[in-house]
Amino acid sequence: MSKDIEIMPLMVKDHCKIEKLLDEFEENADKDHTTAFNSFNKFSWELEKHIFVEEKAIFTAYSPKDVVEGYAMLPEITKQHNVLLNKLNNMRRDVYRRTKPTDLYGFKEFLIGHRTFEEKDVYPKLDKNLDNGSKKIILTKINEII
Ligand SMILES: [Fe+2]
Ligand SMILES: [Fe+2]
Repeated sequence: MSKDIEIMPLMVKDHCKIEKLLDEFEENADKDHTTAFNSFNKFSWELEKHIFVEEKAIFTAYSPKDVVEGYAMLPEITKQHNVLLNKLNNMRRDVYRRTKPTDLYGFKEFLIGHRTFEEKDVYPKLDKNLDNGSKKIILTKINEII
Protein backbone atom coordinates (compact mmCIF):
# COMPACT_ATOMS: atom_id res chain seq x y z
CA MET A 1 0.00 0.00 0.00
CA SER A 2 1.46 3.38 -0.90
CA LYS A 3 1.74 6.09 1.70
CA ASP A 4 -0.47 9.11 1.36
CA ILE A 5 1.31 12.13 -0.06
CA GLU A 6 0.65 15.47 1.70
CA ILE A 7 0.99 19.02 0.48
CA MET A 8 0.31 20.72 3.79
CA PRO A 9 3.68 20.10 5.58
CA LEU A 10 5.65 21.73 2.78
CA MET A 11 3.39 24.77 2.72
CA VAL A 12 3.39 25.09 6.51
CA LYS A 13 7.18 25.13 6.35
CA ASP A 14 7.00 27.93 3.80
CA HIS A 15 4.51 29.87 5.96
CA CYS A 16 7.04 29.70 8.82
CA LYS A 17 9.84 30.90 6.58
CA ILE A 18 7.75 33.85 5.39
CA GLU A 19 6.78 34.83 8.92
CA LYS A 20 10.39 34.69 10.03
CA LEU A 21 11.35 37.04 7.20
CA LEU A 22 8.55 39.40 8.19
CA ASP A 23 9.83 39.41 11.78
CA GLU A 24 13.28 40.22 10.45
CA PHE A 25 11.90 43.05 8.38
CA GLU A 26 10.03 44.38 11.41
CA GLU A 27 13.35 44.54 13.23
CA ASN A 28 15.16 46.10 10.28
CA ALA A 29 12.50 48.63 9.31
CA ASP A 30 13.96 51.18 11.74
CA LYS A 31 17.55 50.66 10.66
CA ASP A 32 19.38 52.30 7.75
CA HIS A 33 17.71 52.38 4.35
CA THR A 34 19.82 49.63 2.74
CA THR A 35 19.16 47.19 5.57
CA ALA A 36 15.43 47.91 5.56
CA PHE A 37 15.29 47.80 1.75
CA ASN A 38 17.12 44.45 1.46
CA SER A 39 15.10 42.92 4.24
CA PHE A 40 11.83 44.02 2.66
CA ASN A 41 12.84 42.66 -0.75
CA LYS A 42 13.77 39.31 0.71
CA PHE A 43 10.42 39.06 2.46
CA SER A 44 8.29 40.22 -0.47
CA TRP A 45 10.10 37.88 -2.91
CA GLU A 46 9.22 34.87 -0.77
CA LEU A 47 5.64 35.97 -0.18
CA GLU A 48 4.95 36.64 -3.84
CA LYS A 49 6.44 33.29 -4.85
CA HIS A 50 4.28 31.59 -2.26
CA ILE A 51 1.09 33.22 -3.50
CA PHE A 52 2.03 32.42 -7.11
CA VAL A 53 2.53 28.74 -6.23
CA GLU A 54 -0.76 28.57 -4.38
CA GLU A 55 -2.76 30.18 -7.13
CA LYS A 56 -1.08 28.65 -10.18
CA ALA A 57 0.00 25.21 -9.00
CA ILE A 58 -2.14 24.19 -6.07
CA PHE A 59 -5.61 25.66 -6.15
CA THR A 60 -5.96 25.31 -9.93
CA ALA A 61 -5.68 21.53 -9.46
CA TYR A 62 -8.44 21.42 -6.90
CA SER A 63 -11.70 20.12 -8.21
CA PRO A 64 -13.82 19.73 -5.11
CA LYS A 65 -16.34 16.96 -4.63
CA ASP A 66 -18.49 19.26 -2.60
CA VAL A 67 -18.86 21.92 -5.25
CA VAL A 68 -20.68 24.51 -3.18
CA GLU A 69 -18.30 24.48 -0.24
CA GLY A 70 -15.18 24.00 -2.37
CA TYR A 71 -15.90 26.78 -4.79
CA ALA A 72 -16.78 29.17 -1.98
CA MET A 73 -13.34 28.55 -0.47
CA LEU A 74 -11.32 29.35 -3.58
CA PRO A 75 -12.63 32.89 -4.20
CA GLU A 76 -12.13 33.63 -0.50
CA ILE A 77 -8.44 32.69 -0.79
CA THR A 78 -7.98 34.79 -3.92
CA LYS A 79 -9.68 37.70 -2.20
CA GLN A 80 -7.34 37.43 0.77
CA HIS A 81 -4.30 37.16 -1.52
CA ASN A 82 -5.33 40.33 -3.27
CA VAL A 83 -5.62 42.16 0.06
CA LEU A 84 -2.14 40.90 0.98
CA LEU A 85 -0.61 41.95 -2.34
CA ASN A 86 -2.24 45.37 -2.03
CA LYS A 87 -0.90 45.86 1.47
CA LEU A 88 2.49 44.62 0.31
CA ASN A 89 2.55 47.23 -2.45
CA ASN A 90 1.68 49.98 0.03
CA MET A 91 4.53 48.85 2.23
CA ARG A 92 6.88 48.73 -0.75
CA ARG A 93 5.96 52.31 -1.57
CA ASP A 94 6.81 53.35 2.01
CA VAL A 95 10.11 51.50 2.00
CA TYR A 96 11.16 52.91 -1.37
CA ARG A 97 10.35 56.41 -0.15
CA ARG A 98 12.55 55.73 2.85
CA THR A 99 9.73 56.16 5.32
CA LYS A 100 8.68 53.68 7.95
CA PRO A 101 5.84 51.40 6.77
CA THR A 102 2.59 52.73 8.16
CA ASP A 103 0.58 49.53 8.37
CA LEU A 104 3.06 46.85 9.36
CA TYR A 105 0.92 45.71 12.26
CA GLY A 106 -2.24 45.43 10.15
CA PHE A 107 -0.34 43.54 7.50
CA LYS A 108 1.05 41.05 9.98
CA GLU A 109 -2.31 40.49 11.57
CA PHE A 110 -3.92 39.83 8.20
CA LEU A 111 -1.12 37.48 7.15
CA ILE A 112 -1.45 35.41 10.30
CA GLY A 113 -5.23 35.21 9.87
CA HIS A 114 -4.78 34.06 6.29
CA ARG A 115 -2.20 31.44 7.18
CA THR A 116 -4.44 30.09 9.94
CA PHE A 117 -7.37 29.84 7.52
CA GLU A 118 -5.26 27.89 5.04
CA GLU A 119 -3.77 25.54 7.61
CA LYS A 120 -7.05 24.91 9.37
CA ASP A 121 -9.55 24.82 6.52
CA VAL A 122 -7.87 24.73 3.15
CA TYR A 123 -4.90 22.35 3.13
CA PRO A 124 -6.48 19.58 5.21
CA LYS A 125 -9.38 19.52 2.75
CA LEU A 126 -7.05 19.56 -0.21
CA ASP A 127 -4.91 16.71 1.09
CA LYS A 128 -8.02 14.71 1.84
CA ASN A 129 -9.68 15.22 -1.52
CA LEU A 130 -6.84 15.01 -4.02
CA ASP A 131 -5.44 11.67 -5.13
CA ASN A 132 -1.75 10.86 -4.79
CA GLY A 133 -1.14 11.25 -8.52
CA SER A 134 -2.39 14.85 -8.57
CA LYS A 135 -0.54 15.64 -5.36
CA LYS A 136 2.70 14.34 -6.84
CA ILE A 137 2.32 16.67 -9.82
CA ILE A 138 1.57 19.59 -7.48
CA LEU A 139 4.59 18.84 -5.28
CA THR A 140 6.88 18.85 -8.31
CA LYS A 141 5.54 22.27 -9.29
CA ILE A 142 5.91 23.60 -5.74
CA ASN A 143 9.51 22.45 -5.60
CA GLU A 144 10.28 24.21 -8.86
CA ILE A 145 9.41 27.52 -7.24
CA ILE A 146 9.88 27.59 -3.48
FE1 LIG B 1 -2.18 31.96 0.73
FE1 LIG C 1 -0.14 29.93 2.07
